[in-house]
Order: sequence, then C-alpha cells, then structure tokens
Amino acid sequence: MEMLVIKGGRPLSGSVVISGSKNSALPILISTMLSKKVSTITNVPHLADTRFLVELLQSFGASCELSDNRATISCDHLTSFTAPYDVVRKMRASVLVLAPLLARTGQAIVSLPGGCAIGTRPVDIHLNGLMRMGAQIEVIDGYIHGKLTRGGFVGAEYEMPLPSVGATENLIMAAVLAHGRSVFYKVAKEPEVVELCRALTKAGAKINGIGSSTLEIDGVAELDGLSYQINPDRIEAGSFIAMASGTKSAITLKQVRIDELSNVMERFSAAGVKFNVVGDGDLVDLETQAPERLNAVDVETAAYPGFPTDMQAQFMAAMTIARGTSVIFERIFENRMMHVPELRRMGASIDVKNGIAKVSGREALRGAPVMATDLRASASLVIAALCAGGTSEIRRVYHLDRGYESLEKKLNQLGADIVRCQQ
Ligand code: EPZ
Repeated sequence: MEMLVIKGGRPLSGSVVISGSKNSALPILISTMLSKKVSTITNVPHLADTRFLVELLQSFGASCELSDNRATISCDHLTSFTAPYDVVRKMRASVLVLAPLLARTGQAIVSLPGGCAIGTRPVDIHLNGLMRMGAQIEVIDGYIHGKLTRGGFVGAEYEMPLPSVGATENLIMAAVLAHGRSVFYKVAKEPEVVELCRALTKAGAKINGIGSSTLEIDGVAELDGLSYQINPDRIEAGSFIAMASGTKSAITLKQVRIDELSNVMERFSAAGVKFNVVGDGDLVDLETQAPERLNAVDVETAAYPGFPTDMQAQFMAAMTIARGTSVIFERIFENRMMHVPELRRMGASIDVKNGIAKVSGREALRGAPVMATDLRASASLVIAALCAGGTSEIRRVYHLDRGYESLEKKLNQLGADIVRCQQ
C-alpha cells in the first residue's frame, strides 16, 4: 500500500487549476445510460472512482473510453442489468445505476451498498421514490431486485423525507424517460444535482425548477447523446482554500465557480481569510490570502446552500491551529468525525460529543504517522500535515485517490514537499 510523506511548515504560493467535480461526473456518466446515442463528457477528473465507473458501465455492455479528461460513451446495447456487491461496496455511487438500468432494460439487480465509515447511509428514499413511479422492488439477500412491468417508469408525485442528493439523482434519471409528468418535492439542491439536470436538459430532457426544491419533469420518448463539460470541483477548491489558510499562504485557484463556494468562503472570511475575485464570467480565478493566524469560527453542516459536510473535516483541520475555540456540528452523517483521533495524534485539541466537536486552537501541530479513514478525512490529514512542523506519514492514501486528481503534484507545484512511497 502507498503512503504520503509530507514535510510540513512550508508556505504555499502560486496557482492551482481545480479539476472537474467528482460528484457531478459520477451521476452524469451514469446518466449516459439513458441515451442510445453517443455521449461525450469533458473535464472528467482522472480519479480511482471515475476509472472504476467506466469499468462498471462496460460491464453493462456500454462502450466507454476515458482519456485526457474526456469520456466517450455509447450505451446503444446494454447486455447486463446486474451490479454485484463487490462493485457497489467499492463505490456507493454505483447505486445510481438503479434507475437508468430499469429505464433502459426494465430490470435491475443492484447490491445494497451497506454502511460505510461515515455512517449507515440507507437507500430507502431511492427505493420508495422509484416504487412510487411504478417499479416493483424487493430486497433479497442484500440485493435490490427491481422490475418495471408497465413498459417504463410512470410519472408520479413524491415528497422526499429529507433532501438526499443520491435519491434526487436516481429519481431525476427515472423521470426523464417516464410516461407522463413527475413532481418531486423537497429535493436536494446541491450544484451536482443542478449539473445533472443541465446535462440531461441539453440532451432533450424536460426539467423545470432546476436548482429549486421542487422539480417538475415531463418524460420524453428518448434522449439525444449527452454533450457536457463538468464544472470545477467545489470541494477540491474548498480544500485548497483550507490548505492555504492553514499554511498562512497566498495562492490563486484557477477557474472556479464562486457562486457554488460562497458558503465555504463566508466561513473562511469570518476566520480572517481575504479573497479577491479575478474575472467576471461563470468561471473566475480566486486569489486567497490567509492571515498570520486564523480566528476560530463555528460551523454547522447542512444541505446546500448550507456549509457542505464534504468540507467539515478540512475546515476542522484549519481550526486546529486557529486563535480560540471553534464548535463544529456535523448534521448530515452520524459518524463523520473519524479524522479527530488522527488529528489529535498531530497535537490537535478536539473533544467530540454527539456529532459536535469542540476544537481548541493550538499554536502549532507536529508531524506524526496517521491513517486516512475516508476521502475527506484524508484531505484533512494532508492539511494538518502541511501546517505541522516536522514530517507526517499518511497511510491508506487510496481514499485520497478516489476524489482528488493529482493532489500531491498540484501541492508540490505550490511549494509543498510531498513524496508518495510504499509503506
Ligand atoms: C452525496 O452522497 C455525495 N456523494 C457525498 O459526497 C456527500 O457527502 C453527500 O451527498 C451529502 O452532500 C456523491 O455525490 C457521489 P445523501 P449521498 O443521500 O447522495 C440520508 C464525498 O466525500 N439518507 O444526500 O449518498 C443519509 O444517510 C461524498 O465526496 C437516507 O436516510 O448523500 C445522510 O444522512 C461522501 N436515506 C443524508 O440522507 C436515503 O435513501 C444525506 O445523504 C438516502 C440518504
């Protein structure tokens, strides 16, 4: 297994290009299954998860190529409708194949994803919504067996008990080719959901209310091939803001969407970070200047437009060396504080009770051997290691490779000292 060896305490400087969004790319690549024509998706990040997804689509009979951040996919003829446990276990987003497989083949057998490090993560909302739209669903021996007996999904109304990103995406994919109109209430409004809607709309889907909590979708008989460029990854951008903030650095993020980052920028601004936007299109450059020492500020994660749970660990890492005490409340996932014991190994002072962390800022952290437990926890350890005096070794770095394209290369170009080696 590989690990990262990071010599900390070096300031960062220069510019970094933010890659395409992982959490937009995954559902959009999956949604190409809804079309029989050739789809081309660009700015797809090269990640363990996107490469894995290409293999999954190929296992259904799709022809699929991913090179130079461009995916060319043809799902003209699907030959399989099964996503086995070994696949879904590795990447939870695989459960999003449920709706497209049903829409295209009338049947699907998809393993239940099960729990993971950050929480139990059930899929009841996905299944209840799809059943409302006419799917017959049974769970047998850990597998979801789905069937459509009326020649496709049937438009329906469904109110989500909570705004699940994945369930919203599964239902959108069910509704675009359904017979009649679907109306979904209290859906997730995350930018990744908006991107899926935009990509499908460009291919001929009829979706109203994009970006709001009610979506009205009129099913169409068929979709054109998708042709779409993925937006930059707001969580990667936020992670670089945290890295610059913790290392007292000034760096420029190239080509980001600040409308999607405002919740994160607002909290870092409160902590003393200065931002300057260069450019005036959708994609701008963001100059980020950290203060000599961050002020401690509180954060509570929430569904979009609230502060993203996917930035909680990275924000906490920055707060470990802030002036004062910061209270961080994780409200989306019940077990997303696995980074805390590892940050403590580096000298952080953090108490956790009922999903609420009290972080007492220290003057400095010190390098230590630590272990990554999930994707964003790994990013928080990289941030802490960059800030710490001395050397840190981050093990289980495969978590990081799932969601950050060329992270150590990008950081070394900014002046960090990171080496990847066998542990
Ligand atoms: C997406 O996961 C993201 N993954 C996650 O990013 C992100 O943390 C999460 O949304 C929240 O923003 C992808 O987009 C691939 P949810 P998802 O369904 O869709 C509960 C990362 O680090 N729930 O919005 O699985 C659930 O347990 C990852 O990149 C149900 O109860 O998240 C959680 O408490 C990790 N029943 C809450 O809803 C359901 O049927 C939100 O989960 C579905 C969800």
